Amino acid sequence: MTQRPVILSGIQPSGRLTIGHYTGALRNWVALQQSHQCYFMVADLHAITVRQDPAELRQRTLETVALFLACGIDPTQSVLFVQSHVPEHTQLAWVLSCWTSMGECSRMTQFKEKSAQHRHLVNVGLFAYPILMAADILLYQADLVPVGADQKQHLELTRNLAERFNHHYGPTFRVPEPYIPPVGAKIMSLQDPTKKMSKSDPNENAILFLTDPPDAIRRKIRRAITDSGREVRYDEQQRPGLSNLMVLYHIATGKSIPEIEREFEGAGYADLKAALTEALIEFLRPIREEYERLQNATDYLMSILAQGAEKARTRAHQTLQLVYERIGLLLAPWESVSTPTANTHHADL
Ligand code: TYM
Repeated sequence: MTQRPVILSGIQPSGRLTIGHYTGALRNWVALQQSHQCYFMVADLHAITVRQDPAELRQRTLETVALFLACGIDPTQSVLFVQSHVPEHTQLAWVLSCWTSMGECSRMTQFKEKSAQHRHLVNVGLFAYPILMAADILLYQADLVPVGADQKQHLELTRNLAERFNHHYGPTFRVPEPYIPPVGAKIMSLQDPTKKMSKSDPNENAILFLTDPPDAIRRKIRRAITDSGREVRYDEQQRPGLSNLMVLYHIATGKSIPEIEREFEGAGYADLKAALTEALIEFLRPIREEYERLQNATDYLMSILAQGAEKARTRAHQTLQLVYERIGLLLAPWESVSTPTANTHHADL
């Protein structure tokens, strides 16, 4: 049997998920899950690089799993797990941190932005964040990592670390490719289309949540900032606000951008907004309803996570043992002899 290529990706549980998470990540996860062996995780360890309320973090972790399912992730096809349930992530992150320079981490745009936002607590975790992300990916020997455009730089670092390690110790890690969707890789704020839509935006009108009810969708689209101009024509540079709404319409209806331009020929922005509102309400309705159904099904969600963690650990553990052996750590006496040896090529995993 030929093995399917492997995918790993993750989302932080640091708030309600937005339509940006859907277009940049979840939508593509769903599309790729049949043709790939997928590992999808809730990145709870990444979330604690900024302060979190413990009870809320626990709650949001489960809610994020419920949303994965509501968006169409099939737990019988894909492995769904919580990052902190697989200790190998932090173990590999330590090894990789010994192969990453301070300069590389300080050049990360997200680090620069976040450290400016959280000036009172620029912690080492925030700095080392991309190393943990590299460990997440490399542990699973992932071929492909579907993410939004904001994660591209972290993927480049991951590839560099994998190549550096392989070069020094011999083939150990697969070098992963990013999968950044051609449309919707960066959904912009509804209030400031020059900024990414972010769940931490203090202005709720800027963010479209996947669980927004119809009246919130109506209000947010009505108030969405558009540009001066009349024609409905896609132009990210000159008309970022309008173009962002066109991308959302594409996501909600499946129509291509040229089809949308034709649909609104001779019509104005108000017509697009009206059609978009209705399309989004219908598009998000089943996601919201399924989420509400699953939200409190804690036992069900926990059983999926238990199975997911077991499968994820099996694969993660193999890679970690291979890495430990490569770098010269003494094999722990309780590790089985079937553990990969230094002669094992990563392709055998
Ligand atoms: P996070 O939790 O910020 O976002 C999760 C995913 O959603 C995408 N995304 C967007 N895409 C388009 N437009 C937007 N406005 C938008 N907002 C978010 C992100 O690009 C991302 O793909 N570090 C990661 C989580 C992570 C991870 C990993 C991802 C941890 N380990 C390993 C891939 C592989 C993060 O903070 O994503």
